[in-house]
Amino acid sequence: MLIIHAHPRPSQSRVIKHLLEVLSAQPGAELRSLYELYPDFDIDVDAEQQALLRWQKIVWLTPVYWYSVPSLMKHWIDQVLALGWAYGHGGDALRGKTCWWVCSAGGADPAYAPREMHRRPFRDYVAPIEQTARFCGMHWWRPFVVHGAHDITEQELLQASTTLEQGCDEFLSAPSPEGPAP
Ligand SMILES: Cc1cc2nc3c(=O)[nH]c(=O)nc-3n(C[C@H](O)[C@H](O)[C@H](O)COP(=O)(O)O)c2cc1C
Repeated sequence: MLIIHAHPRPSQSRVIKHLLEVLSAQPGAELRSLYELYPDFDIDVDAEQQALLRWQKIVWLTPVYWYSVPSLMKHWIDQVLALGWAYGHGGDALRGKTCWWVCSAGGADPAYAPREMHRRPFRDYVAPIEQTARFCGMHWWRPFVVHGAHDITEQELLQASTTLEQGCDEFLSAPSPEGPAP
């Protein structure tokens, strides 16, 4: 499992930090913390692509920023998922891999609804991230989301970690589907 971790202020992270501990403790996990590797945003595209080639299971671990991913994660997508490599003519490097977005959101789950603060269900904001993976021929695993990240108690955080551990078991033990994603 390859973990692409993007948190711009890891020292101030509470939720993603917990989730990162669970994910990186999985046997054989490879971790790439983008803000540590590329504080100047100068991504080593070849190194990132080589890392992706090594694994069938890919995790994107980020907080939700402005209904999307933090800017360096978006930049990573722009740079690494390149034409002719990840999509387009000859772009089949990621075909058949499985991608899982593990994230935390400040907004509580009920606030992601019509007439509430965020006006749409959370899954509407997942759609562009999901389609990015699918456009590259990856299978999409149901996202793991910790809502209400600002108010979460220690107890709830521990519960989230336990649930994530179970999620990891499922994710890692699921056989890789044959061939490219539909
Ligand atoms: C620039 C910025 C944008 C954010 N945008 C959103 C958002 O669109 N939706 C949301 O639910 N929370 C949003 N948040 C809250 C973060 O998702 C939250 O702080 C984070 O998930 C907490 O995780 P951490 O403890 O690992 O930092 C935003 C926070 C920042 C700093």
